[in-house]
Order: sequence, then C-alpha cells, then structure tokens
Amino acid sequence: MHRVKSTLQSVIFPDVCEEGVSQDQEYMLIEDHGGEGKRKIRFHDYHEIYSIPGLYEHLFYERLKCQSPQTISKMMQEELQGGPMDASDLVVLDVGAGNGMVGEELSNIGVKSIVGIDIIDEAAEAANRDRPEIYEDYYVADLTQLPEDTRRELNDKQFNCMVSVSALGFGDIPPLAFAEAYNMVSTPGLVAFNIKDEFMSTEDSSGFSRLIDRIIDAEVFEPAAQHRYMHRLSMDGSPLYYVAMVGTKNADIPTEWVE
Ligand SMILES: C[S@@+](CC[C@H](N)C(=O)[O-])C[C@H]1O[C@@H](n2cnc3c(N)ncnc32)[C@H](O)[C@@H]1O
Repeated sequence: MHRVKSTLQSVIFPDVCEEGVSQDQEYMLIEDHGGEGKRKIRFHDYHEIYSIPGLYEHLFYERLKCQSPQTISKMMQEELQGGPMDASDLVVLDVGAGNGMVGEELSNIGVKSIVGIDIIDEAAEAANRDRPEIYEDYYVADLTQLPEDTRRELNDKQFNCMVSVSALGFGDIPPLAFAEAYNMVSTPGLVAFNIKDEFMSTEDSSGFSRLIDRIIDAEVFEPAAQHRYMHRLSMDGSPLYYVAMVGTKNADIPTEWVE
C-alpha cells in the first residue's frame, strides 16, 4: 500500500494494480488522525471529497498529477492571443465547476466574470469555502432538469464562453446537459472542454463521440485547437489520457441531437 500523510488525514491507496480498477471505481481509504478506523471513498464520490478541505487538491493534484485545468486555460489563453477578445471580456459558464479549480485557473489568465454550476451542494460549499473570490455566482442545479427561474437567470448572464473540465461522461454530465449549457452561450462564443480519449472513439456509449462528431461536421462547433494529453495518473500510476478542445460556437445544438 502507498501511504501519504496529508495535513488532514492519511490517504491510502489500496494495492489493486494487479486486479485493475476502472476509472469510475477507483477509491482511497481515509484514516482519521483520531485512529477511528478507515473510511473508503471512491474518487467519484465528490460530495464526500469536497467536504474534507484540501482532500480534492491532495488526491488529484499532488498525488495523481492532474493537469487539466491548467492545460485548458493555457489553450484558451493561446486561442485568445491575437484575437479580438481579451480574457477580461469573457463571461464564462463553468460547467461541473466543483470546488473551483478551473475558475481559479481562468482567473489567473485574466478572466473576470465566471459563473459556476454543479449538481451537488458540496461543490458550491467547497468553492465558497476555499475560493470565495472566484465565482460571481454559483448555481447548484441539474442541467438536464433546470428550473425555469434558474434558466432565466443563467440566460440573463449573456455568457460568451463555456468551459467544462473533467466533467463529461462517467455518469457525470450527459450530452443533454452539455447541450443545455452550450446553448446558453452567445453565437459566436468560445467553448472549451475535455473528455477522456476513449469517449471520442466510435465504440463509446456515453453519446459524446457521436455528438462531438456531429457538432463539428455541421460546423455548430469549430475547433481551433485540439490536444491529447495526460489528464492525470490512475491509482496504479498509469497515465490517463484526455482530449481537450477549444473552439468557436457557431450555432446552438439542436435539441433532437441529444434527446
Ligand atoms: C471531476 S469533477 C471536476 C470538477 C472541476 N471541473 C475540476 O476540473 O476540478 C466533476 C464535477 O462534475 C459535477 N457534475 C456531475 N454531473 C453533473 C451534472 N449533471 N451537472 C452539473 N455538474 C455535474 C460533479 O459534481 C463534479 O463536481
């Protein structure tokens, strides 16, 4: 077993290398300093992870070397360079915003107006607790079942940019929620997201491969940059590859494409 002391608790990775564990089943054991025993938390149990200050950062960034928020904000910065808009002109909807890691990176490149949305309360609470200056507003809502007043408020923000990092697929954000958020962005608008490389293949069952092909073919989305990179390490130390895309929204995604 690998064992690391964080400032908070012991975070233990079980020895499962030989069995292999799929990305959405990876887990750790958390040991309280009080020695009350070990608690198993899956990496996808975000509500539990966000509730423990520093655990998300320790797990995904210090231990597993996640590079996604930096990779995508750098790609956005490159895309903005030489274009008509500055980072400070962007009004961003951060979809699956979690505890604000992406918002923080966007803020570092000069974005001033960022609204977060996530499906769980613990994400909003953690963003407020750990990065209180980043989001202008933060909504807890399911994008597949948006209450009318939330939809109206979001539309009133007049987003010209949408970002979604490490939140598509895996039982997280489905194509319908992606389309809902995408359609809240003005045309033309800047859109940036990443997705596990497997979800871009024709065998993918999440629906994203088909949707991404379709929006590109129909020029609803025009990629300006595409980059395959190591998103993070898996629990057994092997790299997990994602594809990041930054480009222009030219039109809304027709609802029937995601129904
Ligand atoms: C891996 S975390 C990524 C968080 C953040 N974007 C980052 O890069 O650190 C995925 C996030 O997507 C959120 N999520 C999952 N399903 C969602 C949905 N249907 N609508 C909005 N957020 C969702 C989860 O609650 C979680 O906070």
